Amino acid sequence: MNEDDLVIDPWGSAQSTDYDRIISQFGLASMEGVSVPSPSKLHRRGIVFAHRDVDQVLEAQRTGSPFGVLTGLMPSGQMHLGHSMVVEQVKWFQQHGGDVTIAVADLESQATRGISLEKGRKVALEEYVAHYAALGLEPDKTEVYFQSTRPAVQRLGFQLGKRTNLSEFEAIYGFGGDTNLAHVQAPMVQVGDILHPQMEEFGGLRPVVVPVGVDQDPHLRLTRGLASKTNWFNIRDSSSKGLLVSLSIHDENAEVFGQMPNGRVDKQKVADVFDKVVAAVAKLGFSDIVSSPKQGHVHVPSATNRDKHGIRHQLLGLERELGGLGLLAPSSTYHHFAVGMTGAKMSSSQPKTTLFLRDDLPSVEKKIKRAFSGGQATVEEHRRMGGNPDIDVAYQYMMYFFEEDDAYLAEVNEAFRAGKLLAGEMKQLCIERASAWMANLHEMRDQTAHLVHEFLAEDSR
Ligand code: TRP
Repeated sequence: MNEDDLVIDPWGSAQSTDYDRIISQFGLASMEGVSVPSPSKLHRRGIVFAHRDVDQVLEAQRTGSPFGVLTGLMPSGQMHLGHSMVVEQVKWFQQHGGDVTIAVADLESQATRGISLEKGRKVALEEYVAHYAALGLEPDKTEVYFQSTRPAVQRLGFQLGKRTNLSEFEAIYGFGGDTNLAHVQAPMVQVGDILHPQMEEFGGLRPVVVPVGVDQDPHLRLTRGLASKTNWFNIRDSSSKGLLVSLSIHDENAEVFGQMPNGRVDKQKVADVFDKVVAAVAKLGFSDIVSSPKQGHVHVPSATNRDKHGIRHQLLGLERELGGLGLLAPSSTYHHFAVGMTGAKMSSSQPKTTLFLRDDLPSVEKKIKRAFSGGQATVEEHRRMGGNPDIDVAYQYMMYFFEEDDAYLAEVNEAFRAGKLLAGEMKQLCIERASAWMANLHEMRDQTAHLVHEFLAEDSR
């Protein structure tokens, strides 16, 4: 690690908004140039700005194949506008065919915030799930569960602990000797959260996407690395052309792969495995498959980069047949954070920095009136020099949360920059939209209150 490298602390209060640097340092892919069918306003406005492997999810969407969406919530405190962004993305994926799993991070909340499991359950249902319902998630396509009561999640997290170590945690999270072990355990449970929907009893092998803020990316890096390290088959580009599949031999598969304890190789077993690889790849319609057990690979000369997903899927299926976990590294998307209303970071512990979903309309109005403005100090100066919508909270909140119409936003943006629209007028526009949005949310919350229970998975009722 270099001196000036960024370490993202998912539990810290600092928030890096140097998004370009985050993209390059952590190897995220930009959303620019990714074509998203019927994009939501968060996509259209570049608020969802980066991803890892989102293509495999969009492809599933396009072809009508199954895919999952997973998110988690920390049951502590009140839900605010910032939290609603992930819900909006989850809802969008749901509307486009994804099945949704929501982890209540009650173990994490207990360990890192001192919230009892009992309190966590109450907060999760009354505050979070109640608003997820109001925001339009579908109860029959959503499964909410608790970390504390889903053994499969904890087992998977524990099991994958074998494939990482404290040095990796130091590199990813900046941990040192005095780090509380709750901060080691919580990410391992989260790894279980993210990967378990692929297990047979939770929906089976399919791409799973996790929409998050960049503060959660360390967990995704960890999870993706762990999933890949368990894989029994590697796929790589051939130096000539096409793709090469090879075996990745480790403790769990040594026997199946014919590695005898005395160090010798059972050639018949190896030949069987290679035959199965060929058969798995052949299912995709390739006829020119060259199997070379001696060189340790299967060559598919006509396969291109675009065939990688399909081949990986087949091989993970084969791995499962042979007794492995067959885990696909999760996809993720990342969104920009909306500025806090005071101009500082949005935070639950600073009520003036955000709108809570339970704020009444007079508070909404008051907070927006006092919000940080991108206008000039006097009307005269504003008319002459124009304002800056990029830092104007009222404008930003319409863009992030309250206004669906792109053309209208563009108009307002231009008028503000040109000094034709005053800061107070911008706030008034925002107040109108925010009030309508909140009033509607509160009404929906009343109407959907009876559905909260239906969001709970079987094992969580
Ligand atoms: N750690 C997340 C938070 O602080 C909560 C969480 C738990 C989560 N499991 C998850 C988020 C899985 C995304 C995916 O908010």
